[in-house]
Amino acid sequence: MDRLAYDIVVVGGGAAGLRAAIAAAESDPKLTIGLVSKVYPMRSHTVSAEGGTAAVMREYDNFELHCLDTIKGSDYLADQDAVEFFVAHCPEEIIQLDHWGLPWSRDDDGKIEQRAFGGMSVKRTCFAADKIGFHILHTLFQTSMKYPQIVRHDEWFVTDLIVENGAAAGVVALDIRRGELSYINAKAVVLATGGAGRVYEFTTNGFIKTGDGMALAYRAGVPLKDMEMVQFHPTCLPGTGILITEAARGEGGTLINKDGERFMKTYLPGKMELGPRDILSRSEIQEIRAGRGFEGPHGAYVGLDLRHLGEKAIDERLPMVRELAEKYLGLDPIHEPIPVRPGQHYIMGGVSTNMHGETNVPGLYAVGETACVTINGANRLGSNSLSECLVFGTATGLSATTYAKKTDWPRGTAAKEALAKEEARIFGGLMKREVGKESVSAIRKEMQQIMDRDVGIFRDEKGLTDACAKLATLRQRFADVGVADKDRVFNTELTQALELDFMLDVAQAIAWSALNRRESRGAHSRTDYTNRDDANYLKHSLAFRADGAPRIDYLPVTITKWQPQARKY
Ligand code: FUM
Repeated sequence: MDRLAYDIVVVGGGAAGLRAAIAAAESDPKLTIGLVSKVYPMRSHTVSAEGGTAAVMREYDNFELHCLDTIKGSDYLADQDAVEFFVAHCPEEIIQLDHWGLPWSRDDDGKIEQRAFGGMSVKRTCFAADKIGFHILHTLFQTSMKYPQIVRHDEWFVTDLIVENGAAAGVVALDIRRGELSYINAKAVVLATGGAGRVYEFTTNGFIKTGDGMALAYRAGVPLKDMEMVQFHPTCLPGTGILITEAARGEGGTLINKDGERFMKTYLPGKMELGPRDILSRSEIQEIRAGRGFEGPHGAYVGLDLRHLGEKAIDERLPMVRELAEKYLGLDPIHEPIPVRPGQHYIMGGVSTNMHGETNVPGLYAVGETACVTINGANRLGSNSLSECLVFGTATGLSATTYAKKTDWPRGTAAKEALAKEEARIFGGLMKREVGKESVSAIRKEMQQIMDRDVGIFRDEKGLTDACAKLATLRQRFADVGVADKDRVFNTELTQALELDFMLDVAQAIAWSALNRRESRGAHSRTDYTNRDDANYLKHSLAFRADGAPRIDYLPVTITKWQPQARKY
């Protein structure tokens, strides 16, 4: 095979990766960019985003308000300089997508329409019915094809980063179709592999969201920031975890208990169903624990009632919600409430970066859900994440370009050594190991159940200590995992084993960070430390990979002008 080398390698073909690749390609036509994705880009998890993407677009709104909503939503753990940068750049990204052909929903004047979303003070979420992810991904993917210097490696799974003289120098990747490992040299590497929701069992996340980019950076010495901050979305279908978009509530849908009451009046009367996700998810669990949930084959749930919206509005603005309810539950939301309960949805934490996507390893960048900049702090507001992929995708693509242009090609032997190490680990080790002692599916299930039970919506010292100990045991047991399928071609058992290896690292970082944060803030709700404790914990956690348990350290939060207040709605 030809020697593979690009100025920049982007790992991940979702919104953040594509946006970074396009920004780099636009800024310098001579730059070469490799886009490496373990799935065909249109199958990236961005495709499943539904409700919309936030930006200040109207005269009734302003940057101050978007900043304040985001910072308050984050329970004051967001870095405020990053939030200000983010908010100021969201509108231009919306307009850019418009110019690239995204079919936004529009009002009667032809303006891009905006809808209400949880925790936002005004209608700020631009949308395309309830299929924004599909349209953003399609728009970015087709735009990327204008640039011949973006060379795609679809269905290539990155197994390791190459680091030479302390700087990123490329990746080692498995071509899943051929079952062969190669190294790809690069001057800069951008990690944009999405989140890690699959460390939980009940999640809205697709099977591909296994924390690959987080674990790759973590293994290269980059800390994972604020990993204890895990978002649970209040409206997921029991059984499958499929997301029913917050747009359903933005359009006027209500949450009801088994007595038909809008129970949010007990928990958040000022915002009702348009409160932030951490509060809504906790409220649903409390309502269920009080015995006022419905009972179903997959456990207790509450109802999402859209009946009063009427068929026309549902078909125009929430067509996928209707389709999902019909296909997966066999019910029509025009006539019946949709059963929902909270499920893991998003990781606010991730690879520690600044707002240019830079990590502490020169030449290594991260962006999107993989990264923690942080604008989301302890709780992300719905519809800020696609905007985050766009704004920081552009910023990261540009900073990787600047770095690549002033950097020489790696000249040493690190790439060959990394390739030999991965050959030995994967084909000499994992694939040769005796089968039957430990299996991917058993360890994955145990990990997911530990995370659901002890590192979920409500947490305490005993459960978290137990989770940390059990995850450490799983980490050891993984050394005995074997792969029964010995074929090299499209060996999904092998890629699942590699993904599990990544997920175990990420799960340990989440559990240890959660154990060490002895307060309640945003989505991190400790039943043994119920108050927010700014005196001791107004700081980011940093998890460093170490032999055995992760090492936990801290970093100050950047406050510009919004002093922490009690978070009242
Ligand atoms: O509910 C939703 O449509 C999800 C949006 C988001 O996570 O930003």
